[in-house]
Amino acid sequence: MARRVTRARKGGVQTATLIPGDGIGPEVIDSAVQVIEAAGGRIAWDVQLAGKAAFERLGTAIPDALLASFRRTRVGLKGPLETQVGRAGYRSVSVALRKMFDLYANVRPVRTLPGVRGAFAGVDLIVVRENTEDLYSGIEHQIAPGVVESVKVITARASRRIAEYAFQLARRERRRKVVAIHKANIMKLSDGLFLACARQVALRYPRVKYEELIVDNACMQLVRRPAEFDVLVLENLYGDIVSDLCAGLVGGLGLVPGANVGKRHALFEAVHGTAPDIAGKNLANPLAAIMSGAKLLRHVGQKQAAGRIERAVERLLRQGRVRTRDLGGRATTRAVTEGLIALLH
Ligand code: NAI
Repeated sequence: MARRVTRARKGGVQTATLIPGDGIGPEVIDSAVQVIEAAGGRIAWDVQLAGKAAFERLGTAIPDALLASFRRTRVGLKGPLETQVGRAGYRSVSVALRKMFDLYANVRPVRTLPGVRGAFAGVDLIVVRENTEDLYSGIEHQIAPGVVESVKVITARASRRIAEYAFQLARRERRRKVVAIHKANIMKLSDGLFLACARQVALRYPRVKYEELIVDNACMQLVRRPAEFDVLVLENLYGDIVSDLCAGLVGGLGLVPGANVGKRHALFEAVHGTAPDIAGKNLANPLAAIMSGAKLLRHVGQKQAAGRIERAVERLLRQGRVRTRDLGGRATTRAVTEGLIALLH
């Protein structure tokens, strides 16, 4: 489990690395920073470039200054970073940061929020995704023209510790059930190992129910009866895909926050990507980034400010007057930010 960062700096101010990111990143991160400050969060941000923005200005997508900053602060808020699809170029910076700092648990709470149309009622689940291995090993090669091999790496160590994280989380948050999601019927060795580790860990938590589901069936069950799910533990790729599916259950990517957690470091970020279709247009929903910021505040022990933000988000959505387009409204990113700040108390 992550060690809480409690080292308060001058006057209780916590230093944190801030990565505005690409696409809609700077818009939603700016919004999160404004809301955190208005809520009384005491954070000194160390702003660092990464991804496309860094590549264009500094010739590298992961500048040394960013790494030094995060190594020092041990906590960060990150906007999404662009990675080219299926083309040469720099590798995913998000994946690299997760590996470099061993941010092994990607934790994504997915909850029905009040007043969101199209959302399933009563969803309150947490996706716990292994964040450091699987097909994200990045080991790919062409064996012969037209034949490519991608290596899926699954280790007992990473599988055990992600299962351990999921069960500890379940116990801490008084959750009733952990479901391990897999494809061990086909990938008997790799997913079989993941499952064997989850089973071993489950034995040590007799009060938490343990179940297993094959990933395709899990997707079907999730879209039919999502309220029956509680804590989900998955390998990296299934976790990535199932997280977006779960976001869809509660109103979309604009509403789901996340955290990448390791033993010493924690990096908070929304589940969504750079949304190039709406970038720079003041249309992005900033709530996922704002709620990721609230999670950061909780992590550094600033619970009051975090609670203020979480309550204001619920009030804003319940009132339903100020919403971005993804939620069926017409409000801009800025209008949501201002509307939310007006509701903080
Ligand atoms: P995406 O999440 O950026 O967008 C998917 C759809 O959701 C789009 O229609 C977009 O407009 C919408 N959307 C996403 N966030 C929204 C928000 N806050 N408000 C309103 N609508 C929102 O996923 P996509 O298109 O697959 O990826 C685009 C880029 O983002 C790629 O370069 C990808 O590598 C990167 N990406 C980065 C992530 C990270 O840094 N953690 C995570 C996911 C994708």
